[in-house]
Amino acid sequence: MNLFAVVPAAGSGQRMGAGLPKQYLALQGRKVIDWSVRSLLRQPEIQRVVVVLASRDPHWQTTLVHDDPRVCTTVGGPERAISVLEGLKALRVHAKESDWVLVHDAARPCVREADIQRLVEQIGQGNGTVLGAPVIDTMKRTDATGHILGTVDRNLLWRAFTPQLFPLGLLYKALKDALSAGITVTDEAGAMEWAGYQSSMLEGASSNIKITRPEDLELAAFYLSHRL
Ligand code: CTP
Ligand code: MG
Repeated sequence: MNLFAVVPAAGSGQRMGAGLPKQYLALQGRKVIDWSVRSLLRQPEIQRVVVVLASRDPHWQTTLVHDDPRVCTTVGGPERAISVLEGLKALRVHAKESDWVLVHDAARPCVREADIQRLVEQIGQGNGTVLGAPVIDTMKRTDATGHILGTVDRNLLWRAFTPQLFPLGLLYKALKDALSAGITVTDEAGAMEWAGYQSSMLEGASSNIKITRPEDLELAAFYLSHRL
């Protein structure tokens, strides 16, 4: 079985509001996306990394990783799930249905290599594995006006991160069908659940944050600077 990776990086970072997409912001001497892609390239098992870009992206060529021989690019779409599907399509030229794929957001630069390694060890196990962390706050359910309806038992609740690991053929079909059916898909596991495949959570470091708002960049810099 071969292992590939897809990195969705076609977003525009509206919530960050930085004037350029957040994956290209400077972070501890590199760009955000350099950290995210580098952490995948450090895994020798990954044969190829497809980075999914916005069309006519002028920033990609300025990254450290753009000319790595294992990295190639394709063009994404207006939603994350469409971008991931485009990345999987590009991979199908090189890969078999039975190969496995890691999908990792360009906006998660702090993922630990040891966590990716533990995820990679799950290749061949069931229908896939998702890196995440158990919820630690008390969870409330409200109505649309914010009135509390109740407390949700958090014992079995997880936050889902990336990377997420799946068999390429199953994920491709699940995502394609979910998108055709008009389902809102916010992560790969969501498409797999919709298609009826059960996957598993693997606990990773909670420092694997998705850079979303300006304050996240400072937190990411803190995590990266305190890493051995
Ligand atoms: N992404 C993508 N294609 C899209 C939208 C998002 O490839 N059409 C990527 C982003 O570049 C990011 C990841 O998916 O690496 C997670 O998405 P998100 O955090 O929502 O990033 P943005 O969509 O860029 O941010 P925002 O939602 O604030 O605009
Ligand atoms: Mg978005």
